[in-house]
Amino acid sequence: MKLLTVVGARPQFIKAAVVSRQFKSAGVEEVLLHTGQHYDENMSSVFFTEMQIPEPKYNLSVKGGAHGYSTGHMLAGIEEVLLSEKPDAVVVYGDTNSTLAGALAAKKLHIPLVHIEAGLRSFEMRMPEEVNRILTDRISDILFCPTPTAIENLRKEGFEHFDCMIVNSGDVMQDAALFYASLSDKQSQISQSLGLDKYVLCTVHRSENTDNLDNLQSIISALNDINDQTPVIVPLHPRTRKTVYDNGLKLNFKVIDPVGYLDMVQLLKNASLVITDSGGLQKEAYFFGKHCVTLREQTEWTELVTHGYNTIAGTTSSGIIQAYSEMINKTSGFDVSLYGNGEASQVIADSILQYFS
Ligand code: UD1
Ligand code: UDP
Repeated sequence: MKLLTVVGARPQFIKAAVVSRQFKSAGVEEVLLHTGQHYDENMSSVFFTEMQIPEPKYNLSVKGGAHGYSTGHMLAGIEEVLLSEKPDAVVVYGDTNSTLAGALAAKKLHIPLVHIEAGLRSFEMRMPEEVNRILTDRISDILFCPTPTAIENLRKEGFEHFDCMIVNSGDVMQDAALFYASLSDKQSQISQSLGLDKYVLCTVHRSENTDNLDNLQSIISALNDINDQTPVIVPLHPRTRKTVYDNGLKLNFKVIDPVGYLDMVQLLKNASLVITDSGGLQKEAYFFGKHCVTLREQTEWTELVTHGYNTIAGTTSSGIIQAYSEMINKTSGFDVSLYGNGEASQVIADSILQYFS
């Protein structure tokens, strides 16, 4: 059994870290292909090193560029590798341009396609991620869904009539949070070096917030105000950094470079609140018992909102400040299990082996 896994962006390295380990212990041969979508040391190689992800056999070095340009280059490069590696199946994660390129390359060559983190929907077709995930789901042969909501989304789209297998696997990011938490306690020094007792952890990088200057300005204005009450710390994505500096936006809060996952876990564990437009961080806030304010108009992780762990603030300054005030002192327990029990990677490895046996 030989799998070829396509990764390219930060959250995919984190997901692959736990799933690749499981493939290895199940005796599955895995060839890793990195598209090069993320390429800075602190956006890419830090994860491979500290999470002990196997070195990719291929790196296409497709660095940045417009959607069509970069997705097209990835597609051509992945196709070439698939033709020479001839894997039994291709594995893709999530909803990035690397996901779509890997999915298309595999499907056009009639190689079975496995989509991990399938079935999520924001119902906002202007999001590049929504386009990527809908197209990838539709052509996948095995769809691993992290939540019952994701399964239900596929059912409503008629997936029971398609020739594919749908599995409720739980969320591999829960596996990662559990697996790396103690390593992070041992290795990360970030809390001591920042020396902050109480702070709000924030990340912003989604295109709807960084390509839209009005949105970014009102988010920054809210964070500047919140920082007067509780210190705000932002590991800044390079995309956001570029927009901030190109437009001379003034930040009163603390900005640091993007950090590795082990540092991020410490930042999460010690935070008073998380404010983010990240998909992954919304869930990690919950994994580490923190409330979350989401800087978007909708979320794919609706169960967090239903349970009151997350609130959708939108992007107006007043909406964000109001959501901060509501969530900063909230004390609800985090005792409901929403994303499985940390065994999603094992379910995935076992199901793939069974499917191809
Ligand atoms: C991508 C995903 C998004 C995901 C995010 C994870 C798509 C359409 N979007 O968004 O779903 O949430 O990754 O972080 O695939 N850049 C650097 N160095 C890097 C990486 C990026 O400077 O290592 C800069 C470049 O200017 C690049 C820009 O960031 O053009 C955007 O990068 P890109 O990968 O296209 O999109 P993300 O915003 O990272
Ligand atoms: N992350 C990280 N360092 C950072 C910011 C994020 O390790 O400086 C991790 C975060 O903990 C989560 C993942 O990156 O596991 C989320 O990725 P991102 O927000 O870039 O993408 P999304 O989840 O929105 O697709």
